[in-house]
Amino acid sequence: MEHQVKIGLFGFGCVGQGLYDVLSQSRGFRTTIKRIVVKDPSKKRSLPASMFAYDKNEILNDPEINLVVELIDNAKDAYEIVSTALRNGKNVVSANKKMIAENFEELVRLQHEFGTSLLYEASSCGSIPILRNLEEYYDNELLRAVSGIFNGSSNYILTKVQNEHLDYATALRQAQELGFAESDPTLDVEGFDAKYKLVIITGHTFGVFARPEDVLNLGIGNLAVGDVEFAQSRGKRIRLVANTFQLDDQRISLFVTPRLVAKDDQLYNVNNEYNAVILEAAFSDKQLFVGKGAGGHPTGSAVLSDISANAYHYRYEYKKYHQQARFTYSTEIELEVYLRSNDPVLFDEIGFTSISERGINYVSGVNYVIGTIGLKDLIRHRERINASGSFLAATGEVIVLDGSRKERKQLSESVGI
Ligand code: HSE
Repeated sequence: MEHQVKIGLFGFGCVGQGLYDVLSQSRGFRTTIKRIVVKDPSKKRSLPASMFAYDKNEILNDPEINLVVELIDNAKDAYEIVSTALRNGKNVVSANKKMIAENFEELVRLQHEFGTSLLYEASSCGSIPILRNLEEYYDNELLRAVSGIFNGSSNYILTKVQNEHLDYATALRQAQELGFAESDPTLDVEGFDAKYKLVIITGHTFGVFARPEDVLNLGIGNLAVGDVEFAQSRGKRIRLVANTFQLDDQRISLFVTPRLVAKDDQLYNVNNEYNAVILEAAFSDKQLFVGKGAGGHPTGSAVLSDISANAYHYRYEYKKYHQQARFTYSTEIELEVYLRSNDPVLFDEIGFTSISERGINYVSGVNYVIGTIGLKDLIRHRERINASGSFLAATGEVIVLDGSRKERKQLSESVGI
């Protein structure tokens, strides 16, 4: 049965305003925003000043407020607010992927200890209802892999650069103006944002709470026209793809990198701020979810759904964590990659285990290599790849290492061409 929901809202940026619009227009579900706490008293707001406060305790210590909706930018402040609210007996809805991914296990523990609930559908892939589906619909499925496009801003930039030949800086500026990008857009273009979402999705898919700092993220920050031309010359497009997948009965692996995707890949035509999630499972086989991954209203819609779920006492049970034989996160894989760099020493030192092609990119004149590299080596050289202006894209082929045995696996095939 629904109970009377009185909301204390933190943050009134793009998503906060989006939520306000969505709540105002939603039919059949009545809820009140009692107070909105924001940081900057001097900023002009679209609502009466009496709605706003500047001290977090006006929400956290208000006994009438029974739901905290946290939509602020700063992950550290968000953790303070969310953990205090959960300890004080208030349920929370949050969209803060960085905060959740970085404190995942602790937040699960706090919910258990204080009997409170934290819902965060809006944190992962905007309007695509993936977390509750992983928890409820696929509670007894044997999930094998989840992958896809988890960052709207990068996908917007890639679409504009590849399909419309816009330059990178203009495309990024548009993504910022449209409210898709994070305040610090390096989180988007270097693959951090997609990685936080991947960590959360992995928790609900395999019951593994990986630490973000242990997971590889490479992004599109160093993308050059030559890389786009190279992809096109092979009939492919570059997409920023997040992957979490089972290696065997005990191990899973996860990483975020750009990927060269072929025309018949389901990700090839996912454009602009759209996200896509491809699920592979033993019984239902392959399924594709596509929807807007960024923007005030699409994200506000996911927050609305969590507010509504909270009203009928829904909470995550972390079923995969409690149910399954435990998986562990393994880096015992190699990735086949295209690496373009003007740092010749990088090619020698990064640790290619095999090389199938070397060439000179005919647009930029710089060198590229296609070959396989261990995930551990990529993690170790991540900073150097970024700092040297190099660009790396996976081909979708991985090699699973099991002692001296090597097994090839096509991620793009396994997720449904
Ligand atoms: N900056 C994020 C993106 C917003 O571009 O996907 C949604 O999480």
